[in-house]
Amino acid sequence: MPQLAKRMGRAKPSAIMVVAEKAKQLKAEGRDIISFSIGVPNFLPGGHVYDAARKALDNDSGQYGSNRGSNELLDALLAHVEQVGLTGYTRANCATGIGAKHVLYNLGEALLDAGDGFAFATPYWTSYVDIGEILEADIQLLPCPPEQDYKLTPAQLDAALARKPKVFLFNNPSNPTGMVYTKDEIAALADVIVKHPDTWVVTDDIYNRMVFDDVGYHNFVHARPELRDRVVFVDSLSKTYGMPGWRAGFMVGPEVVATAVTTMNSNHITNLPEIVTAAAVAALSGPQDVPAARRAEFQAKRDQVVAALNAIPGVSCPVPQGAFYAFPDISVAFGKSHNGKVIGNDVDLCNALLDAKGVACVPGSAFGEPRGLRISYTCPTPQLAPGLQRIQEFFAELQ
Ligand SMILES: Cc1ncc(COP(=O)(O)O)c(C=O)c1O
Repeated sequence: MPQLAKRMGRAKPSAIMVVAEKAKQLKAEGRDIISFSIGVPNFLPGGHVYDAARKALDNDSGQYGSNRGSNELLDALLAHVEQVGLTGYTRANCATGIGAKHVLYNLGEALLDAGDGFAFATPYWTSYVDIGEILEADIQLLPCPPEQDYKLTPAQLDAALARKPKVFLFNNPSNPTGMVYTKDEIAALADVIVKHPDTWVVTDDIYNRMVFDDVGYHNFVHARPELRDRVVFVDSLSKTYGMPGWRAGFMVGPEVVATAVTTMNSNHITNLPEIVTAAAVAALSGPQDVPAARRAEFQAKRDQVVAALNAIPGVSCPVPQGAFYAFPDISVAFGKSHNGKVIGNDVDLCNALLDAKGVACVPGSAFGEPRGLRISYTCPTPQLAPGLQRIQEFFAELQ
């Protein structure tokens, strides 16, 4: 039999999905499972989104569409990013894709040759490593442990950019930690980036509308407008609008990059489907009450989650100020045992927690931080308190 391409030896299915699959299987076997594992927002968009999709279906053009995205969608994107202070861009600065994941993959293809430096902070969203490995980039991890609230410091970034990576990928608010950089922190990092002109900066900020405590969303371009020649902003409908399955993501940045991503589209997907485009325009331009209500709900849930985790002796959870994740340091459990099962690491802990208490979380090592555990708290509200209580019981039972 002929062989697969060598790159498939480097491509792995997402570690997050592995835990979610196990939880799904246990549920199918009749177990009472509470899932804190998968990063879906667990709400649906407003009725106007479905109305727009139905209308598009009734008026199907029967044609291929634009590789970049329809003009109506690009205009809606431009208005959307203007709301977070990213002004002065035109359609030529935009490109779309099948979700932010596809846009990020296309950006990797567009910006990275094999062996090029690709720097980003740990903990990271798992796909960054997977994309880097498929593209044979030189992945340069910048460790941001719980002691520094999982945030990159200016000194760390300065040292990293001195190595002249081709791309620095930044994620704010963060998946998996939920941490959000303040205006001052972004300004300090932007001052560093300005000093290193050889690096593209991709900001994966798909949770930018889910920021709590009035911290606000801040971008390097706000702090140092001269960086707009090098900064690419990535966003998506998935989390903000409760539309992960619709698969619509986009980027706004330098024209040359947007055109490169559009060229990738012309070779991969041709265009976003017409119905998805219509739904995306409606989500971006229509009433924003659903995302606003969800953000308030997530902030309240965040409070509940952090209080429950920090009440466990030895566990500490920096307070996340965005997205819908908490990432406690659970290393206090290592070396102990539960029901006779030794907890040697985060993966043992996740397996034991799922087996004993029916609670699914994702081991921190999936995100490059084995002392952590990712809790995605978008489950139905009635499940949240019992799920947290089961985690507390699990830790109390450790010997
Ligand atoms: C940080 C981050 N970037 C990108 C994505 C991909 O989002 P999309 O559904 O738009 O592909 C995710 C999804 O979990 C994410 O958490």
